[in-house]
Amino acid sequence: MIDLSTEYLGLKLDNPLVPSSSPLTGELDSAKKLEDAGASALVLPSLFEESIEYEQKQLERFVHSQALGNYEAQSYQPIPDDYGSELDNYLDRIQRYKSSLGIPIIASLNGISTNGWIDTGRELQQAGADALELNVYYIAADPDTAGEVVEKRYIQLLTDLRQHITIPVTMKLSSQFSSVANMVLKLQHAGAQGVSLFNRFYQPDIDLETLQLKPHLELSNSNESLLRIRWIALIRDYVNISIAATGGFHNTSDIIKALLVGADITHLCSVLLNNGPSHISVIKDELLKWLEEHEYDSVTQMKGSLSKACAINPEQLEHCNYMHVIKSYAQ
Ligand SMILES: Cc1cc2nc3c(=O)[nH]c(=O)nc-3n(C[C@H](O)[C@H](O)[C@H](O)COP(=O)(O)O)c2cc1C
Repeated sequence: MIDLSTEYLGLKLDNPLVPSSSPLTGELDSAKKLEDAGASALVLPSLFEESIEYEQKQLERFVHSQALGNYEAQSYQPIPDDYGSELDNYLDRIQRYKSSLGIPIIASLNGISTNGWIDTGRELQQAGADALELNVYYIAADPDTAGEVVEKRYIQLLTDLRQHITIPVTMKLSSQFSSVANMVLKLQHAGAQGVSLFNRFYQPDIDLETLQLKPHLELSNSNESLLRIRWIALIRDYVNISIAATGGFHNTSDIIKALLVGADITHLCSVLLNNGPSHISVIKDELLKWLEEHEYDSVTQMKGSLSKACAINPEQLEHCNYMHVIKSYAQ
């Protein structure tokens, strides 16, 4: 019997297939379907710093405008007893998931400032989250802000959180650091138990009729996994924290490659949005088949066997024979 189990963020998971944040993980119904199909854990959609801030401002304005109204009107406009803030709803969702599902639940926070996140982190932990993923979705567009300053924000956020919560924390990172490997090492030193490589940024498009920017969400494709696979291979031997591969993992072969270079799990999102939650069972069966055909006893046995230190031609990872590759292009 082939053992698909893997360790991730100190959690023992049945297999390396973990749906990442998406609308599919946001509803108990589809979360149950994901679990039934074989998901070994799941990441909830993010709680967004900006939406909590917005909500707080709205609430303050509401309370303030009540105070301005006359006494009688105040009694007609109370804050409803059942008013549930985004955070309340999020905590409630964790509790419902924990009582209905058997797999670990990873909460997700999206933001950059430490204000508020520490208390929020504590509450997520108390609600039963098994781990916390920090998605620092930050576009460093200010030319006066040096890369080092941006990196320090990540480290500060992590350090502050680590001091106040005990559940494992992982960071979902962009690939756009001057030195990704060094950044991952710094995060390890600051107490991260894992990294998810890499975040996908959605690029706004331009509407040529209105000349306005418009949001543009396109699901990933399998080619995007190669960037992740390359970096995981380069980093695996230098860090001893968990690594999740995320972004472009559509085919079972993409997932096998990520595990071979040292990922502990692969996150799945677009592929499940395209094919539905039950597609996890297809991937799981194909993974088992490949392991059997290639005479592996377990995922642990294959994990990292093609990292930079183990690869037959590791120089390809760094240079990829750039000159030969571009010269090999035939018209
Ligand atoms: C509709 C949609 C909603 C998403 N919501 C979140 C989110 O709330 N938080 C987050 O960290 N990532 C979110 N993501 C990103 C995914 O979790 C994932 O990192 C990304 O889609 C790349 O993986 P993929 O190539 O498997 O799709 C979302 C993606 C999609 C398509």
